[in-house]
Parts: sequence; C-alpha cells; structure tokens
Amino acid sequence: MSTPEWLESWSDDDGARRVRELFARAFGPTATEPAAGPDGVWSAPGRVNLIGEHTDYNAGLCLPIALPHRTFVALRLRDDDAVRVASAQTDAPWEMRLADVVPGQVEGWGAYVAGVAWALAQAGHPVRGFDAVVDSCVPFGASLSSSAALECAFAVALDDLLGLGLGGDDAGRVQLAAACIRAENEIAGAATGGLDQAASLRSRPGHALLLDCRPELGPLENAAPIPFDVAAAGLELLVIDTRAPHQLVDGQYAARRASCEDAARLLGLANLRAVTPEGLDEALAALEPHDADGVLRRRVRHVVTETARTAEFADLVRAGRVAEVGPLMNASHASLRDDYEVTVTETDLSVDSCLAAGAVGARMTGGGFGGSTIALVRADEVDAVVAAVQAAFDAAGLRSPGFLVAPPSAAAGRTA
Ligand code: GLA
Repeated sequence: MSTPEWLESWSDDDGARRVRELFARAFGPTATEPAAGPDGVWSAPGRVNLIGEHTDYNAGLCLPIALPHRTFVALRLRDDDAVRVASAQTDAPWEMRLADVVPGQVEGWGAYVAGVAWALAQAGHPVRGFDAVVDSCVPFGASLSSSAALECAFAVALDDLLGLGLGGDDAGRVQLAAACIRAENEIAGAATGGLDQAASLRSRPGHALLLDCRPELGPLENAAPIPFDVAAAGLELLVIDTRAPHQLVDGQYAARRASCEDAARLLGLANLRAVTPEGLDEALAALEPHDADGVLRRRVRHVVTETARTAEFADLVRAGRVAEVGPLMNASHASLRDDYEVTVTETDLSVDSCLAAGAVGARMTGGGFGGSTIALVRADEVDAVVAAVQAAFDAAGLRSPGFLVAPPSAAAGRTA
C-alpha cells in the first residue's frame, strides 16, 4: 500500500514568514525602487461544509466550519491604482490597473484579487492599488474553498489598510463577504452561492456556522455559530482530498443552479426554500408536466431534503448528540449522488471505503464533480479508515488522495 499523505496546515508564524520572504523576492529593493516591506500579513481559511450542499443559492441552510488551512497575504498599498500580485503557487506575477477591472474583462487568478478591490469600490469604499504576494496551504481544486480563502484574505487586508472598519464585527464582515461574492460572480465569472465566503469570514474557532441563506434575513438572523466539538464525543472529522480531476466544473455547477431556478419559476416561487418537506410531493407533481426526463424533480428533491437534513444535523449538534449525525451525512451523499448527480467515482469510493472501515458517517463536501469527502470517525480508528481509503484508491489504480483532520478554526484576519 502507498503511504498515506497528510496535508498539514501551517502555523501563523510559518505562513507569515513565507509571505514576507516571498514579498522581499517579488518586490524587494531594486536599482530604482528602495526596499520597503509589506504593510502587514493577513490570512483567511479554507472551509469544509459539514452538510447543506447546493442549498446556498436556493435560500436554504448550510453548515460549514473554517479549516486550520489558510491562505496568507503580505500586502503593501500603493499610491496609484496598479495591482501587482505574485504567488508561490504560480510562476508569472499578475498585474492590472484597477481602472481596467470590469466584468468579463479580467483573465487569470488575479481576477479573484482585483475583483475584491473592484467590489469594494462598487460598494462606495475608497480603494487604491497594491503590491501583494500570496502563499497557501489550502489544497487547490479540492472543494475546500481555496478561491474564497484568497478573496477573503485580500478583503480583510484591504479593509484594515484602507480603514474601512468592516472587519471588526460580524455585520461588517457580511459586507466584506458580499464584496468577495461579487468578485467571484462578476469578475472571476463563477456563479457560486456565498457559502464559502461566509465560512471564511464569519466562522469561530470551535464552532460550526449554521447559515440560513434566505435573502430577506439580516446578518443577525442569517448565521448562528454552534459549538462543534467532535473530540468531546471521541470523534475526529477526517477530510479526504480525492484529487479527482475536475471536469466541466463551471458548466455543470451553472447547469444545476439554472435547473433550480427553472423549477422555482415553474412553481411560481422566488426560490426553492419555499418548498417544505411536507409540500415536496405536491411540488414534484406540479413539475411533472414540464419535466419529461425527471431531472428537475430530482434536483428539487435534493435541495428540499438537504435543507431538512441540515436543520436536523444542527439540532443534534446543539443537543450534544454529534455522534448521531452519521445517517444524515450518508443520506446527504446518496442524495448528491442519485438526485443532484454531482459525485464521481473517486468521491463515491472514498465515502464507501470510510463507511466500510467503520466511519460514523461520510459524504462528499463542496460543489462536487471531484474534490473532497468528509468522514466522522472514532478518534482511535482514524488510521484504520485512512488506510482503508488509501488501499481502495491503490486497488482502483487511482491517484493517491490527501488526508487532513479539521478542527473548526478561526476566520480571516490580520496575522502579523
Ligand atoms: C461551491 C460553491 C458554494 C456552494 C457549494 C455547494 O463550494 O462555491 O457556493 O454552492 O459549491 O454547496
């Protein structure tokens, strides 16, 4: 059997040291520019969603935690509107003037960065250019929100340096999250729903964040931190990056979203949250004449049952009964596999292997079409479950997965 690979998180000191060194290399003294360090270091976590998948853009419930894995940014404001960003993960630095940042015109990973500055300016905040570097231990392309971590690290950095005063409380962080969502939707061009940015900016250590995505709710009503202490129940949350190649991700995600919007329109509703579990059969019957292949009805069934499962999961956690959430996780995975059709061979195999090796519950997490799975595992069985997943991937001739354990960690903020 191949040796399982653990994906370690970095300490704040380590992350800060990395980006300070990178900053000196990227923007250090030259013949024409004197040496000046960054104005500071900020960081933001990736997230893992415990349950409530593809519910955020349907005004439903989701329940993420922030990962200990973070994206670190060292940033120095400029006096003009140039944005120059370099990353440890890419070769070429990315440059653009803020005046040129408009929807549909921005290419490359810098869109997530410049998009945040653009969205803050759109919200009426005074924005300036900056030089910045990025390094990250959030696994990429793993459904663990490396993009949101990137956006949110820049959001808190700009908030801090421009004196916007938004990062200091949850209501302000809702505005930062909104800017990050606009950056992702309008500048990076990914029609995602907002779960990831809320998790990265609004989570608390030791807590899961119950998000209620009904648009009419204000910041005090739409998020509730819930103590999430799996260790007290003798459990660990294991995350498995299956490293399945993502294919057609954007198109498939957008297609799922469009189906949900079509279904809501056919039902005469603003969104699918208005369909309750009790009203589900009636809604499915109403869709039948418009849905020869049954796709819309499968999508709606997933969305409605998933929000119900998320509410139940949150109730169990609140009642100190986290060891009982396993069946809800398993049902969520089955629904994402059979009704929402966003799982792949690797995520199904990972979940099945975890359960066969004794996990309390397991499911895919994030958008799907590859990415990661999570499993709730008895602390003394983590190694056995990891070995079982590794052996199953070896036997199937699949690329080796990466493993991490995920205590609920801190939101984005200043690091150094
Ligand atoms: C991705 C998106 C989120 C959410 C999830 C699925 O992570 O960015 O907005 O829709 O997929 O739950």
